[in-house]
Amino acid sequence: MFGKRSPGGTAAPALVLKTPAPAAPSRQPEPPPLAADTRRSPPPAAPTEQPRSDDYYQMKSMIFGALIEAIDLSQLAKLDGESAREEIRDIINEIISLKNVVLSIAEQEELLDDICNDVLGYGPLEPLLARDDIADIMVNGATRTFIEVGGKITLTNIRFRDNAQLMNICQRIVSQVGRRVDESSPICDARLADGSRVNVIAPPLAIDGPVLTIRKFRKDKLTLDQLVKFGAISPPGAEILKIIGRVRCNIVISGGTGSGKTTLLNCLTNYIDEDERVITCEDAAELQLQQPHVVRLETRPPNLEGTGAVTMRDLVKNCLRMRPERIIVGEVRGPEAFDLLQAMNTGHDGSMGTLHANTPRECLSRIESMITMGGFTLPSKTLREMICSSIDVIIQAQRLRDGSRRITHITEVMGMEGDVIITQDIMSYEILGEDANGKLMGRHTASGIGRPRFWERARYYGEEQRLATAIDALDQGEANAA
Ligand SMILES: Nc1ncnc2c1ncn2[C@@H]1O[C@H](COP(=O)(O)OP(=O)(O)O)[C@@H](O)[C@H]1O
Ligand SMILES: [Mg+2]
Repeated sequence: MFGKRSPGGTAAPALVLKTPAPAAPSRQPEPPPLAADTRRSPPPAAPTEQPRSDDYYQMKSMIFGALIEAIDLSQLAKLDGESAREEIRDIINEIISLKNVVLSIAEQEELLDDICNDVLGYGPLEPLLARDDIADIMVNGATRTFIEVGGKITLTNIRFRDNAQLMNICQRIVSQVGRRVDESSPICDARLADGSRVNVIAPPLAIDGPVLTIRKFRKDKLTLDQLVKFGAISPPGAEILKIIGRVRCNIVISGGTGSGKTTLLNCLTNYIDEDERVITCEDAAELQLQQPHVVRLETRPPNLEGTGAVTMRDLVKNCLRMRPERIIVGEVRGPEAFDLLQAMNTGHDGSMGTLHANTPRECLSRIESMITMGGFTLPSKTLREMICSSIDVIIQAQRLRDGSRRITHITEVMGMEGDVIITQDIMSYEILGEDANGKLMGRHTASGIGRPRFWERARYYGEEQRLATAIDALDQGEANAA
């Protein structure tokens, strides 16, 4: 045993009982004494389906207050996770019996877990973090937490005690990567131990309490074949993507936030040959390349004093001195676009990147504006020529309004006509209507081009026949029932 409880042991109950203390972290008014009916209120399981009653939160808050009074948190921090949990469980059990709280075994277990999560983990977020089916967790202040599952956003019953508890958890998350979030630095990016990406924006910038957004890391990344199964792309479309990846086309994947760009980029890297030297540059490492010869680089935000930042541009430039065969940029947001184009143009065929844009056309103009905004003063025609000679294919991903994700275009950059970049769709997605459940129906169609521009390249890599077959299959309008 440890903590503020007296060494004598006999005094312990008195200390444990010294609650609800005014200094307890809960800012709620003192909970009323428990009425008989409230003791049965907490639902035993299904953390996100059944809402918990206010009584549950009051009781939890009361017990939590008593616990915080009774333990010495600095001592607790010295224990390993398991023993700390044991210790906390012991004390809570003691509190429950001293306070005459009547709970079923299942209710008590749930409460124990809940409180252990608060003290040791990320509190109410724990059950959500443990789930594999969640893509995003969005916490808008203490009382509203949304999750995205299967493309659909739903409100959960997860609640934080108050904004202070939420802020505390945000702080705990970002302090693990050596950062700080408070009123003076209210915006912060971080990463959980499992690789999930975290963003926090706190008051006063966030008006209604801290806002925490977590893009959960999926260990079992989706494969191209799974995307076919989900109807995100047709089988011949997927075959063409595999060939594009294999024959070292320079690729930009374009799409909105959460449209599946990174997922697609990860899929395409599967078709890179084993013996190629690949260097990846990301803001937060998400890609999972299977090849043996991969170097992974990550940018670094500035430290607390505002110095020491390493930008994407720094990384991409440095990459070029590392003898890469392919360079992969997780997300192109700024002037590094220039360096990526340079790389694509100077013998690093098969380089790839993702970019935030809603159509392939917009993707091209975004690249142009990123470069001009980065302070490069190239005539726009020169710039477009550079884009044309660097990028072979744009793949467009989109999250449709029913939550489904589709690859809507495979578009080739053909060349210039006057001042205009000419593109040609190899494949596109057409929405045909909506079924009774509001799900969108559509199909992937070919644009009827005989030979894509990268035909020669495919021949060079011995993939000519495979490409011809895939293009034929596309042409036959192999519909992809969504
Ligand atoms: N075709 C798809 N079908 C279903 N889920 C998908 C599909 N593509 C991506 N996802 C999921 O959507 C979420 C966001 O994908 P991600 O690739 O990170 O998006 P982006 O990089 O565009 O922001 C991830 O959880 C991913 O597993
Ligand atoms: Mg991404």
